[in-house]
Amino acid sequence: MNLRLGDVDGLYHHHYGVGDVDRAALGDPEDAAYEKRLVAELHRLESAQTDVLLDHLGDIGREDTLVDAGCGRGGSSVMAHQRFGCRVEGVTLSSAQAEFGNRRAKELGIEDHVRARVCNMLDTPFEKGSIAASWNNESSMYVDLDDLFAEHARFLKTGGRYVTITGCWNPKYGQPSKWVSQINAHFECNIHSRREYLRAMADNRLVPQAVVDLTPATLPYWELRATSSLVTGIEEAFIESYKDGSFQYVLIAADRV
Ligand SMILES: C[S@@+](CC[C@H](N)C(=O)[O-])C[C@H]1O[C@@H](n2cnc3c(N)ncnc32)[C@H](O)[C@@H]1O
Repeated sequence: MNLRLGDVDGLYHHHYGVGDVDRAALGDPEDAAYEKRLVAELHRLESAQTDVLLDHLGDIGREDTLVDAGCGRGGSSVMAHQRFGCRVEGVTLSSAQAEFGNRRAKELGIEDHVRARVCNMLDTPFEKGSIAASWNNESSMYVDLDDLFAEHARFLKTGGRYVTITGCWNPKYGQPSKWVSQINAHFECNIHSRREYLRAMADNRLVPQAVVDLTPATLPYWELRATSSLVTGIEEAFIESYKDGSFQYVLIAADRV
């Protein structure tokens, strides 16, 4: 699915989308070209998600270096470079993803600015205080948050910006719902609660500047995706848990103090 969507314009994401569905662009579901337009629309919403993340990185200059922690195939890294002209260092556990991202950067002629490497984001080679901004785009549910934020706080400059977009379970609900447990089993991850994010940030010199609930903005993406031939079987868990309030899609932007 990620490759089909990425083939639309060469930006390869492994995350979800935000924003209203453009019904006019989708056209008539009976039309033979409808499925192709639906794929393009899902992809547009996924790129819009990255734009929201980049909007929260603050002032980034051409001389800055950013870290894309858990970079996947590098779609967000490429978009960050295209917007700011800066260097972006991606890290992923997957050698296939790193090779794919580096090949794509070369095809775009930006390999001197965008690079992916196989590396544990909890233990990176970046020098202490050398990075202007960093993010986790849907990659923080695979690791311990204290270890993750300690590493971001180490390599970020004082005053540097950290942003995450992630699904988290809602502490108001008391415990992870059955839908959240299904999502954990499906992706072999460990979704943290919103409170765990805020606590681990506070313990690691990351002071939240914005907490944005993106749940209403991501629901249209999921409802559209559920109607496509690309369904993976996990759509119901996302839709139902977003609707019952047990799961939230949030952006948290924090300053390294
Ligand atoms: C759902 S994908 C998100 C990819 C990318 N951020 C995006 O938005 O397209 C999760 C990514 O996290 C990476 N990941 C998970 N644990 C990691 C770790 N300990 N160190 C580095 N990368 C990790 C995976 O290799 C994968 O690239």
